[in-house]
Amino acid sequence: MSDSMQAIEIATPGGPEALVPTTRPVPVPGPGHILIAIDHAGVNRPDALQRAGAYDPPPGASDLPGLEAAGTVAAIGPGVSRWAVGDAVCALLPGGGYAEYAVTPADHALPIPKGLSMAQAAALCETFFTVWTNVFDRAGLKAGERFLVHGGTSGIGTTAIQLARARGARVFATAGSEEKVATCRDLGAEALNYREADFVPWMQGEGGADVILDMVGGDYLPRNLKALAEDGRLVQIAFLQGPKVAVNFAPLMVRRLTITGSTLRPQSDLAKARIAARLRAEVWPLLDAGTIAPVMDQTFPLAEAAAAHARMEAGDHIGKITLKVR
Ligand SMILES: NC(=O)c1ccc[n+]([C@@H]2O[C@H](COP(=O)([O-])OP(=O)(O)OC[C@H]3O[C@@H](n4cnc5c(N)ncnc54)[C@H](OP(=O)(O)O)[C@@H]3O)[C@@H](O)[C@H]2O)c1
Repeated sequence: MSDSMQAIEIATPGGPEALVPTTRPVPVPGPGHILIAIDHAGVNRPDALQRAGAYDPPPGASDLPGLEAAGTVAAIGPGVSRWAVGDAVCALLPGGGYAEYAVTPADHALPIPKGLSMAQAAALCETFFTVWTNVFDRAGLKAGERFLVHGGTSGIGTTAIQLARARGARVFATAGSEEKVATCRDLGAEALNYREADFVPWMQGEGGADVILDMVGGDYLPRNLKALAEDGRLVQIAFLQGPKVAVNFAPLMVRRLTITGSTLRPQSDLAKARIAARLRAEVWPLLDAGTIAPVMDQTFPLAEAAAAHARMEAGDHIGKITLKVR
């Protein structure tokens, strides 16, 4: 194995053109870590935030973008017994996925679900970890409850629809075009084109949502509160329309609402390992059985990461964009 590798770095923060090919040393796995020879890497909206200079890597993480990948274990650090060299894995990464090799804690890797390609497996971890911890751990969605997700055809949205459905919730989704609405329906959601109709009366007409997963923010915040049922929970994972807005919080008391949220990346290795263990037990069997599967958009060569970001930011994609590394 060579000690240098091809990667994509953020030259200076900016638009997609900020992503440029580079050569870096192959990282060395420390205690409890594995080195993955990456086959495919997933592309996520937080990568675009990092590229734009709005989402710095946590201390100790690679400065290279890329939060998830699938490939083969190329080396193991001291104390790792869970994996052996040659194992096929998909993994959540602290960063560094846009490269031929990346290191990650061994407990953040999972087996490739049966029948999935490396591209599909590379598209799992960032959205499945995020949806699981926010929708089920934080917001406590239960079978029989009504669940609304905005951005229904995003990587996050397509994952949330399928997981909530598989766990017995009634699922509602909003999306910005008829094609996207049709995709949400194909995945099992009742769906609304938010450019044509207001989601607030739509949800109120159904009794309100018990849980809403939102990435939009802005004026969606007060509208989400109106769309919640009594004892409803709003979980915020991004603010694509901004985090600052005037809100009347009186309904919070009157209808006993909860507002929460989280970001995955700064959480401790232990917290992420716990999410991985729950996914392996609760969700990987659904992937193995083909009950759920990642919704795939396009795959780009690693060297064309800038084009992958341009596609994501144009907003026409449905599901996950991936990079083919080898
Ligand atoms: N908190 C966390 O830990 C965490 C982890 C991963 C991702 N995220 C966040 O979750 C969101 C989805 O991530 P992703 O990777 O699945 O991204 P993505 O596929 O690019 O999805 C973004 C979605 O947002 C919708 N949208 C609504 N309003 C928008 C606006 N003002 N600008 C842009 N898009 C808008 C778009 O669909 P329409 O065309 O239907 O509007 C699109 O489907 C991102 O904001 C990301 O930062 C958070």
